[in-house]
Amino acid sequence: MYITTKNVAFCASLALCAGVPMMAAAQDPAKEPAHVYGFGTDVSQEQLSHFTSPLPDGRGLPKGSGTVLQGEKVYMQTCVACHGANLEGGIGDRLVGGRGTLVNSDPAKAPVKTVESYWPYATTLFDYVKRAMPFNAPGSLTDDQVYAVSAYILAKGNIIPPDAVMDETSLPKVEMPNRDGFIPANR
Ligand code: HEC
Repeated sequence: MYITTKNVAFCASLALCAGVPMMAAAQDPAKEPAHVYGFGTDVSQEQLSHFTSPLPDGRGLPKGSGTVLQGEKVYMQTCVACHGANLEGGIGDRLVGGRGTLVNSDPAKAPVKTVESYWPYATTLFDYVKRAMPFNAPGSLTDDQVYAVSAYILAKGNIIPPDAVMDETSLPKVEMPNRDGFIPANR
């Protein structure tokens, strides 16, 4: 279904994205759903701009950029308390290391899952940090800060060089170590 900013408002109020807006449209295509039922408000472009949903190929990434050095600053100010000075984890997960541990035949050796060893797409890192981190203040970082701290984590994981700049073009081009470690679930 094609979602306009108008029926997003309607979905948000009823959490019924799939069916109801179409029913409403069928009743009276000239009227917008929120107005048919007399409640809800239209979502503004400004409100929508806070949400991103980037795909692995980079579509949906916001504009902005950040260097590894800038990311180190962001990390030391807003992440280090939970993820450790060497990204080794603590309250939060370990973020680097563990390459080559996911597949082994020794049952005593647990896989070490990190951004470096496990995550197939760099765009997911941007998306996750933007939505969910820092854990105590999600959504508080600017897009530039999220690009920067993503660059820092990727550089600490030896995935990109220390002088790399991450932006909406370069981030999707990053080849994650476990990019081909997944198979499609045949369900
Ligand atoms: C207050 C503690 C805290 C702070 C501060 C914090 N994190 Fe986290 N982080 C967590 C916790 C807890 C999790 C696990 C969340 C879960 O599994 O639901 C996590 C998970 C993550 C993950 C996912 C790791 C994985 O492999 O699943 C990433 C990436 C991450 N944090 C990055 C960051 C970055 C970048 C910052 C700073 C901008 C940050 N975190 C700040 C506590 C924190």
